[in-house]
Amino acid sequence: MTTRVALITGAAQGIGEAISLRLADDGIDVALLDIHTKEQQLAALANKIAGKGRRAFVVPADVSSEEDVKSAIEKTVENLGSLDIMVANAGILGKLGPMLEASVEDFRRVHAVNVEGVFLCYKYAAEQMIKQGRGGRIIGSFSFSMSGIALNESHFRRGICCREERHVFDITLSPSSDATYDIAQEFAPHGITVNAYAPGVILTAMTALPGDEELGGHGMTLKKVVGAPPSLAVGEPLEVAELVAYLIKPEAKFVTGQCVSINGGMFFD
Ligand SMILES: NC(=O)c1ccc[n+]([C@@H]2O[C@H](COP(=O)([O-])OP(=O)(O)OC[C@H]3O[C@@H](n4cnc5c(N)ncnc54)[C@H](O)[C@@H]3O)[C@@H](O)[C@H]2O)c1
Repeated sequence: MTTRVALITGAAQGIGEAISLRLADDGIDVALLDIHTKEQQLAALANKIAGKGRRAFVVPADVSSEEDVKSAIEKTVENLGSLDIMVANAGILGKLGPMLEASVEDFRRVHAVNVEGVFLCYKYAAEQMIKQGRGGRIIGSFSFSMSGIALNESHFRRGICCREERHVFDITLSPSSDATYDIAQEFAPHGITVNAYAPGVILTAMTALPGDEELGGHGMTLKKVVGAPPSLAVGEPLEVAELVAYLIKPEAKFVTGQCVSINGGMFFD
């Protein structure tokens, strides 16, 4: 079988880094995308992946820029030969707090990265996969285990419609389960599956917040903000990476249109 190629966004650290390493373990060549200031981290990761005997290509880019996403996909194909798997993992945590204290600039930036960025990655990856004619895998990242059923809905649809919710409107901006389902239907005739993971609190730089120490450690502030009990389990990036490793397998072709919660039982979904 031809070696498959994955493009992972937000690859420099956290969940994206873990996914990159995990996919390399499964014999996949990887293009590592993150913002320009993370180029050194990307280079170090590329070295680790080369040490596993896989090809890694560093492609600094901003997922909120259409030009950047198009060009990152073109460069991936030029350098690694194809694009078979897109993991639209990059995301940012907006400023936590009540809406009255939020600025429109904050809102727009989170929307640009977490919603438009995912839209661009899905669209241009699918275009390339359809051109190749051998199917593919598209994976998105949801914000905080909110797949549209328990806490929010309709954050990312064809017409891009979003709404603010609770104190955490900024972290709820992400693709919804409706969109995942819809897009999966559209791409199914091309042999492309579309799924997403919806993490609970995973121990990464994103969830290390001021106030953690007082509350009892990494992840505690976020648990408080999302209304989770302090005793709720937290996860490691590798746990999410293992789920992605399954979803991208050729054998997982029957799994599509799903958002899989991986949240330590944060809520029933
Ligand atoms: N950690 C959690 O508990 C958690 C929970 C739910 C969802 N998520 C989601 O999982 C994904 C990964 O999160 P993480 O915890 O590893 O976060 P992280 O902050 O450790 O890593 C995110 C990476 O995305 C990159 N990035 C940010 N904006 C970008 C842009 N415009 N273009 C390209 N890259 C960009 C960052 O530079 C960073 O390297 C995010 O989408 C996040 O919203 C994380």
